[in-house]
Order: sequence, then C-alpha cells, then structure tokens
Amino acid sequence: MSRHARARGNSASTEHFFEMLAFYRDRVRERICELVPRQRYRRILYGPMLEYPLRDGKGFRPALCLAACQACGGRIEEALDTAAALELFHNAFLIHDDIEDASESRRGEPTLHAKYGVAIATNVGDGLNMLALRTMLGNTRTLGLERALTLIFEVERMARESTEGQAIELDWVRHNRGDLSVTDYLRMIRKKTCWYTCMAPLRCGALIAGVRPRELAPFTVFGFKIGAGFQIQDDILNLTAEEALYGKEIGGDIAEGKRTLMVLHLLRQAARDDRERVLALYATERAAKTEDDVTFVLDRMRRYGSIDYAAGIARRMALSAQRVFDERLAWLPPSPYRRFLQEMILYMIERPL
Ligand code: IPE
Ligand code: MG
Repeated sequence: MSRHARARGNSASTEHFFEMLAFYRDRVRERICELVPRQRYRRILYGPMLEYPLRDGKGFRPALCLAACQACGGRIEEALDTAAALELFHNAFLIHDDIEDASESRRGEPTLHAKYGVAIATNVGDGLNMLALRTMLGNTRTLGLERALTLIFEVERMARESTEGQAIELDWVRHNRGDLSVTDYLRMIRKKTCWYTCMAPLRCGALIAGVRPRELAPFTVFGFKIGAGFQIQDDILNLTAEEALYGKEIGGDIAEGKRTLMVLHLLRQAARDDRERVLALYATERAAKTEDDVTFVLDRMRRYGSIDYAAGIARRMALSAQRVFDERLAWLPPSPYRRFLQEMILYMIERPL
C-alpha cells in the first residue's frame, strides 16, 4: 500500500477531501513534468530536478492555491502554473533544507545530496527555484501583466519570509538558545513555514480569481493558523511517526537541535539536572549525538507531557483557524472547494505523514 493510502486509513478527513487532494496533486505533477526541460543536461540536472517532485509528497500547497482560486470563483487552468511553481519552490526548499540539516531521507528515499553529493544537489535546488520563477513569468502571457506582477511580488515575499525563518532557526541552534517563548516559536514558524506553506498559496489562489490585494487579510490569517498547526504536527510526527510512513528520520529534530514547542516546554518544566543534561546534549553537533542521547530527550519529553502540550497548542490553532474561516471567510459561496479549504484545518493537525 502507498504512504498516501495508509495515511487515509487513520484520518478523520472525508473521502471527498482525499479525492480532491489526489486530483490536484496529479494535475500539478503532470504540469511540472511538462515544465522541466527534457533534451539536455538530463543526467546531472533535469533528471535529478524531477526526483523530489515525482516522489509522493502530500502536495497540499498547490492544492491550497487551486482550491482558493476555485472557491473565489476562478478557473483551475488560470492557477495551474502558479500552483506548479509553488510546488517547485517547495521542492527546491526541501533540497536546500536537507543539506542545511544534513538529513538522510526525504519522502521515504535518500535525500538528493546523499545520492549526488552536496554540490550537484545545491545546483539542482537552484535550478528548481529558477524554473519556478520562469513559470511565474509565464503568467504575464496568460493572466496579463498586472496580475502576473502582483503574483511575482507574492512569491518574492514568500521566499524572503522563509529564508528569514530558516536564518532565525539556524541561529537558535548555533547559539543553543534555551530561553525561548511560545511567541518566539510562533514568530519563527510564521516565517519559516506558514508563509510559503499556506499563506502565499491561499493569497495567490485568491488573487488569480480576482480578489483585490486589500481583501486578502482573512486568507493571510487563516493561512497562518493552519500553517502553524501543520508545523507543530510536523514537529510531533518527527518524534512519534512510523518511519516508513513519515519518510524522514525519526528524532532528526532532536539530533539537529531544533527548538520545537516540545523542547521549549521540557526546558521550562524539567527538574534542574534533566534540564542541564538536555541543554548540554543540544549543544553538541548532530554527528556527536548518539541514539541514546536522542532516546533520553524523547523519554523526558514523554515524561513531562511535552508532546501532549504541543498537541494542545496545535488544536488551539485549528480552533482559531475555524473561527477565522466562519467569521471572515463566510462570504465564500458553498462549493466543494470551500469545503476542501475547511477540511484542511483538521487535516493539518491530524495527518499521520
Ligand atoms: C516538509 O513539508 C517541510 C516542512 C515545512 C515541515 P511537507 O511535509 O509538506 O513535505 P511533502 O511535500 O509532503 O513531502
Ligand atoms: Mg530546516
């Protein structure tokens, strides 16, 4: 059974939701295959460029863009290139992120740099970014200059926010910060994850359908809330998921020294000797940490209730997203696309992969 089929089994989301997600994923993948050049430089550039996109990612970023466009009365064809570009940016980001974090597996297979080396993988990531930009430029022909330019401003903001978020997180690791608050964490993931994962895809979809830039705020807020739920659930899955389903190393975030809500909670709640041992462990480099070190941190997180604590905050984010949806997006007329956007709220915090 595929990772996706197994994921469906455990989820409260409906058949309708997964069918739409699969439909959008297939359309976008097809478009990406058309966009990647085929003739030259296949072995070291365009072949590897298709590797992550052809592995089975969830594909909900482009789905958010397409569903937002359709929910606002736009046509899927108008948003397809932008949706494909968002997935290309995401895949470039994953390649570079895997290098930054020295990760070993992605979507159930070795990371790109593990297969081809850091130099080629870096270049393939750059290639994906440029292909995404080129795809966004193509909108000038299909959507007109003004809308196409507005969308390019959107993705510039999106890419800038995520590099700033990465910078903040890398800096926290480098300085072994143990004094961070929930607000610090939420500010960091808003930049690192929410902008490019949910806020920009929703905003782009709405803009393509003709929503005015000054009317985008509800999508921005909704995107932040579901994106935060997504990232918190991602951090939890990094500790608790079934490895084959999750597709990345379990406990990788601990090895990398990531400041998740669980560590912040643990550092606040733990007895002094536990706290000092955790901080000392987090100060060591990834390669110097043993499996026992990771197991120790995980055990303390369980013991102090840090995972339940984070899950509680994810749930609060989802509730708050639901409120924003009901109060500020009530004007979206009933449609399968609107329903899909609403079902996204619970999917983000309940997904098993
Ligand atoms: C992983 O994103 C990177 C994060 C922002 C946590 P996804 O979990 O959406 O990865 P795919 O696209 O489904 O593989
Ligand atoms: Mg990272």
